Amino acid sequence: MTKTIGLICGSLRKDSYNRIIAKSFTDLDDSHQFHWIEINDLPLYNEDLEISGIPETVTSFKSAVQDVDGIIIVSPEYNSGIPGVLKNALDWASRPRDSSVLSRKPVGLIGATPGGLGTAFAQMQIRQILEAMQVHVLPFQKVLISQVHKKIDSDQKVLTDEQTKRYLQQYLHQFIHWIDHTPALD
Ligand code: FNR
Repeated sequence: MTKTIGLICGSLRKDSYNRIIAKSFTDLDDSHQFHWIEINDLPLYNEDLEISGIPETVTSFKSAVQDVDGIIIVSPEYNSGIPGVLKNALDWASRPRDSSVLSRKPVGLIGATPGGLGTAFAQMQIRQILEAMQVHVLPFQKVLISQVHKKIDSDQKVLTDEQTKRYLQQYLHQFIHWIDHTPALD
């Protein structure tokens, strides 16, 4: 059955490598629907706003998270950790605690870097944060894309490396299976 998959990029950079990797899913697969879930307009999380009024950008972001069957996060690593903008978005999605739109949501993690370690440290952090939010993170699979600048066409902004494309296709297949076998959301 066709799934609706949200794509969140942990980089706000216009020419982000991670965004190019996320976008490649829309080229690699036409049997599922992919929706971008943007995080750039979200205000910094402030608990006071839960009392004074949740901004519209947050409400629509949370609806977008709620409406998809699963989410693939494609994120860079900043200083061996999660980019602040991504943590901010995850914090908003997790609140209020008793109505988190992330709770039991199937999520996959991917990261790309021009460096050699493929965002391994950031992914460990993101996984730990998501597990604290009771997210169903796809287990075991790590997609660590190193030397990403050699695997894309920067002018066309597309993934060109065939091995990475095949790997992402396999990953998507496993992620769809994970969605199908995750206990149903309320
Ligand atoms: C980086 N970069 C980086 N790369 C990495 O592999 N490990 C790291 O710890 C860091 N740390 C880091 C900190 C900060 C503040 C910046 C701006 C960058 C390099 C990073 O991988 C590179 O800039 C990527 O191109 C960022 O991803 P996007 O924007 O291309 O998706």
